[in-house]
Order: sequence, then structure tokens, then C-alpha cells
Amino acid sequence: MTQTTKFTSYILAAGDGKRMKSQLAKPLHEVGGKPMLGWVIDTAMTAGSDKVSVVTSPKHDQIEDFLASRYESVTTAKQSEPLGTGHAAQTALASLGEADQPVLVLFGDTPLITAETCQRLAQKIVDGADICVLGFEADNPTGYGRLKTDDSGALIAIIEEADTSQDEKGITRVNAGVMAFSADVANHYLSQLSCDNAQAEYYLTDLVEIGVKNACNITCIMAEQREVQGVNSRKDLALVEDALQERLREAAMAMGATLRAPETIFLSEDTIIEQDVIIEQHVVIARGCQLKQGAHVKAFCHLEGAIVGADAVIGPYARLRPGTELGQNVKIGNFVETKKAVFEDGAKANHLSYVGDAHVGAKANIGAGTITCNYDGYDKFKTEIGKGAFIGSNSALVAPVTIGEGAIIGAGSTISKDVADNDLALTRAPQKALSEGASKFRARKK
Ligand code: UD1
Ligand code: CA
Repeated sequence: MTQTTKFTSYILAAGDGKRMKSQLAKPLHEVGGKPMLGWVIDTAMTAGSDKVSVVTSPKHDQIEDFLASRYESVTTAKQSEPLGTGHAAQTALASLGEADQPVLVLFGDTPLITAETCQRLAQKIVDGADICVLGFEADNPTGYGRLKTDDSGALIAIIEEADTSQDEKGITRVNAGVMAFSADVANHYLSQLSCDNAQAEYYLTDLVEIGVKNACNITCIMAEQREVQGVNSRKDLALVEDALQERLREAAMAMGATLRAPETIFLSEDTIIEQDVIIEQHVVIARGCQLKQGAHVKAFCHLEGAIVGADAVIGPYARLRPGTELGQNVKIGNFVETKKAVFEDGAKANHLSYVGDAHVGAKANIGAGTITCNYDGYDKFKTEIGKGAFIGSNSALVAPVTIGEGAIIGAGSTISKDVADNDLALTRAPQKALSEGASKFRARKK
């Protein structure tokens, strides 16, 4: 397909989500650091949906707040009561007005559906289908709507679990929930759904039977189960996270990164990983991170909101917090924590340090156990370390403070005044030695 098919999306997100046992509305639970509903909206838009209506429950103000803060162009449709997926789709139709292009119904709790699948569905409608259902072959079909076909293999109905006969229970080809239909079907047949079934709900899936009665052209395409896994429980959420992580890892490797034991590495949807990056075992990369070409993240690191420069080496056991920006060839070693800290090219903090609200000049060397004392309990203050400066081990830099270029701080110092370029500064209590004092002490203790 050369030209992207434009379509309208109805995203259903008004269900109760009871099985999540949560104060947070189900569609706002995150996978890969992004709310499920965000995934579905972004995917729909990427695939070419220029009109989006999200069906929400009046009980879930949280969802409207989320939409208002991130998705200006999205319409919300309030479904007064959760009377079923069919009723939810009717609510979306009412909110957007008459349809004038293909419509896709998506679920706010089925976040991994791809833009490609959405496009395939929309394209089926453009190619002449009136209704196109997305199906998958289920390992265990219990709970899903069964795709019922006639002798010729044509789809004639979707039977919901509660309405299945003994025979129909054995059907393993099931409804993923996602469905596409033409503007005509939306405008003429959606309103015909009734709630005459075992659950007294308006089933969107009944659209298939209505279509059959009206000699519509009905078709079905298939997806992998992992792609259309819905989330009803925390266990499902974990399954979906797992599938997403696999997708993110595969994308990173395809771009030319080495992941050691990829199943132990956790990425976020917005993680940027350039070529020849190496990530070792047990690394967590939370939102807002970029790893530039050739960066090496050793085992057991946690990164969030951090930029790691080309060929920089991090860890093992480093923690980079938001606002960390590392230049080329920077080295951050074990048990070093950084926050709002810029390290210019070639700067190093190799062991056991806290560097926060700081700017570290090129090739400066921060010794083991250095702490930037950036907080007095009320305000945060900045530490400036000039290029080529050397901070001796176990120093406390009491901010606000500036260490000049090329300056040296003697080990064990507490520095609270600025140090000029190329000065050597140290604060140290005089050392005293008592001759044979140790022997005398032991003799006393015997
Ligand atoms: C639905 C399908 C089923 C399919 C399954 C796939 C129907 C009738 N059944 O069943 O064939 O196999 O998905 O997972 O469509 N929602 C609303 N308002 C409502 C009811 C639901 O917005 O009144 C939303 C929910 O928030 C959820 C989605 O619609 O995002 C699906 O609803 P759910 O009740 O989970 O449908 P299933 O019973 O799983
Ligand atoms: Ca469901």
C-alpha cells in the first residue's frame, strides 16, 4: 500500500477494570513506561487515524485528565453506564457524528496492536469489505468470542463465551476484539445492536450477524496472540510488558546494539539506542534515555532521563538520574549516583560518589567517595568543577561552590569556598602520632 488509508478510531476504555484491583483506571496502567491507552492512541494516529474518540466512564476522571494533558485532538465520549462494547461504539459514533471514512474499534486495554495491523484492517475496508474482524488462533479460547464460519469458511457470527453451545466452545479461532467497518455500516447498522443475549449487553460482535442479514461483505484477518493480548488482570499486564520488552530489545538489536542476556535488560518506549552500544546483564533503562554510539553500560545499572555520550562507559552498578548528560568517553563507575549533572568529554567519577546539580569540565577526575553537598534541606545549589580538575578521594564539595580549572583538592577535604584555577586546596585536621601508642593501648586492654 503506497498511500496511507485515513480512518476514524473508536477507542473503548469505559470498562470497570475490576480484576485489576486498582485505584488507577485500567487503561492508565503502564507498559514500557507509557499508559496502555497512550499506546493505543499513538498507534492509531501513526497508522493514519485522523479522528479519534475515546470512550470513557464518568467514574474515571483520571482518564480525561490524562487525555487533556497529552492529546488535544482526541475527542472523549462519556458512556453513562458500561452496557457493552456495542453501546460503547454507539457512544463514540454519537460523539463524532456521522462517519465519513472507515472506522476502527480498538480497546484501551489491548496496547500492543501494531500500526501495521490497523492499516491492514482499514485497507480491507477501502478494498471493498464492509466489516473486517481481527482474529487469532488461541492457545485456550475460553473467555473469547468464537469466530463461527459456514461450510465455505466465511465468517457468519461471533459467539461470546456466555452464549456458546458445547460445540462452539471448541472453536479456537477467536475474536481479538478489534474490528473495522465502513462508514455505511457505522451509520446504518451500529444502532441496530440489541442486548438480547446471556449477559444482556450490547455486543459489538453482533455486528457480524447484522451484516450477514444485510448481505454485507464480511472478512477476517489474523494476528499473533501476543500482539492482541488484552489486559484484564495484573498477570495479563505482566504478560504484555514481557511481550513489549521483547519487541523493544529486538528493535535495539536490529539497530546494531549488543544486548547481553537481553531477557534481563528492560527498556522504555522512548529509549534511544545508537549503533554499537553494549548493554550488559540486568540493566534498567527508564524513560527519557539516550545511549549514543559505542556507549557501554555494564551490568546492574539503573538509568532514567539520562544521555550517555559516545563511547562512555557506565557501571557496573551505576545510577544515572534525570538530568544526567554525559559527553564522549565519560566514565561513571560502580556505586556512583548522578542527578542533574553534566559531565564534559572524558570526565570521570569511577567509584562511590554522588554528583548532583553539578557541571564537571572535560577530563576532570572525581575521586572515590566524593559528595556534592547540594541540598541544605530547603534549596538546591550548584557545584562547578573546572576542566582538568582533580578531586581527591572522600571530599565533600559544599555547594554553591566552584572548583577552578586544573585545581587539585586534597583527599578528605570539605570545600566550602571557591578554589581558583590551578590552586591546590585542602582542609585537613593535623595528624598526631603517639609513639608506641598502639602497643600501650593493647597492653591496657589485655
Ligand atoms: C471482547 C469481545 C470478545 C473478544 C474479546 C477480546 C465483545 C462483546 N466481545 O470481550 O469477542 O474475544 O473482547 O479480548 O466485544 N468497554 C467499554 N464499555 C463497555 C464495555 C467495554 O468501553 O460498556 C471497553 C472495555 O474498557 C475494554 C473493551 O471495551 O477496553 C473490551 O471490553 P471487555 O468487557 O473486556 O470485553 P471482553 O468481554 O473481553
Ligand atoms: Ca477484555
